[in-house]
Amino acid sequence: MQIIDGKKVAAEIKAEIRAEVEQLVAEGKRRPQLAAIIVGSDGASQTYVANKEKACGECGFRSQVLRFAESATEQELLAAIAQLNADGEVDGFIVQLPLPRHISEQRVIEAIDPKKDVDGFHPINVGRMAVGLPSYVSATPAGIKELLLRYGIATSGKHCVVLGRSNIVGRPLATLLSQKDTPGDCTVTVCHSRTRNIGEICRTADIVVAALGQPEFLTSGMVAEGATVIDVGTTRVPAPDAKSGFRLKGDVKFDEVAPKCSYITPVPGGVGPMTIVSLMKNTLKAYKKEVYGS
Ligand code: GUN
Repeated sequence: MQIIDGKKVAAEIKAEIRAEVEQLVAEGKRRPQLAAIIVGSDGASQTYVANKEKACGECGFRSQVLRFAESATEQELLAAIAQLNADGEVDGFIVQLPLPRHISEQRVIEAIDPKKDVDGFHPINVGRMAVGLPSYVSATPAGIKELLLRYGIATSGKHCVVLGRSNIVGRPLATLLSQKDTPGDCTVTVCHSRTRNIGEICRTADIVVAALGQPEFLTSGMVAEGATVIDVGTTRVPAPDAKSGFRLKGDVKFDEVAPKCSYITPVPGGVGPMTIVSLMKNTLKAYKKEVYGS
């Protein structure tokens, strides 16, 4: 059994990005810049955005965060998006989700210029990704593909079971892994809250990706001997002994599942750091206008 070290791979990729950026700066070019919009004070969202700012620093990027109160209107948010769309020094930006209930997530996402949509959430990027055109790919699925690639995990012809059908992880990942690509060429099954016999289906998987947001959902009885298990879960559970007062729990019962696996990602330190680094890669792509040209 090998533990997939997402933190280490992410550090390697950030160093690669930093070297490229310093080279660009040495040639007299400006630094890439990522912006983030955050609404309200949700603890997990604050942490994610702080981690993105930190990663920008490590990659040699500029970053800015636009903060709004929970009571902000959709109009105010759309005005900020229009401003970032027009700013020639902002290469890409994200709107941290979830948004307060009185704001339409879909209208907000569709207001982002697809050329600056480094989260890959705009329907134009989702559609382009689905038909195999150049696009910004959602960061978590891109990070998972990178881990499979860097660890040399075979995917062609393998059965991959994706638990969860979210627009951010499950659905795009299922699309990507079924495409003619490396990693890819998988036979993919998507399971969700209405799926019957989830355990039986998971036991037939070469690769299981758990992305349902249910702590310790995947148990050893649901996994075949030698499977690869990718854990996308990051639920905060109270932990009075931890400095922050909480601990991150994955969707996999790690201690009992790990001994059966050929490869497994831990939480934390598996998929999470790769998600952030994929956002950095998308920002560099936006800076270089690699997806859409000028
Ligand atoms: N909320 C949870 N994950 C994400 C993400 O990848 N991007 C944004 N914008 N919000 C999120």
